Amino acid sequence: MIIAIDGPAASGKSSVAKIIARKLGFRHIETGAMYRAVAWKAQQLGLNLNEEAGVARMAEALDIELIPGPDGQTLRIDGRDVTPLLKSEGVGRGAATVAGLPRVREILVAKQQQIGARGNVVMDGRDIGTVVFPHADLKFFLDADAEERGRRRFQELKDKHPEIDLNSVIGQVRERDRDDRNRKVSPLVPAGDAIQIDTTRLDIDQVVNQIMRFIEPSLNKKEKKGL
Ligand code: CDP
Repeated sequence: MIIAIDGPAASGKSSVAKIIARKLGFRHIETGAMYRAVAWKAQQLGLNLNEEAGVARMAEALDIELIPGPDGQTLRIDGRDVTPLLKSEGVGRGAATVAGLPRVREILVAKQQQIGARGNVVMDGRDIGTVVFPHADLKFFLDADAEERGRRRFQELKDKHPEIDLNSVIGQVRERDRDDRNRKVSPLVPAGDAIQIDTTRLDIDQVVNQIMRFIEPSLNKKEKKGL
């Protein structure tokens, strides 16, 4: 079974996907971390993030390992755990830039399809239901007001980055949304058959409960068929 959860920055998709995967005993794959990893490495190497050939060459050679775990996904590059280094909004903005490069998307989408082909996975991102797994068993699209999403991202980052301020985080989230929704390749858009949930006034548990109500009948059907 493949469950796709898409949505804009800080819409809650990763937190929700993690809990759902744990409940179902599935793997949780956060595809955003792969775009973040490519951006981080490109920044480390001093590459121009808009230069497709150079970034794609690097992305192709990059040894990215995703290790799902009960407390979240760990990402290793060339054997080194870089998970905490990928969380900043600076790397997030870089991710949105490299995510606009068609060749980079091709490379990462192929890796995601390979990972998902083993089944029983909850995958979150921007294009899982539209491009990576257009035939996913269930698709969800989470959204929330940009201000509320900015506040959530600020809460996540403020302990480690006491220097950040709320208004600039809201601004960065809005900018990244604009890039993600307007890019030419695989823009952020709900799949026609996605179940859309506005999470502005919902907490994580309420969103998880809504999603589980859709998943349970499909799960029972598959169990009956012995799948
Ligand atoms: O956690 P947050 O929602 O802020 O971002 P993320 O899921 O880590 O993704 C970071 C960036 O990677 C996004 O703003 C997108 O530009 C890009 N991305 C993408 O293009 N396609 C995906 N499947 C996942 C992320």
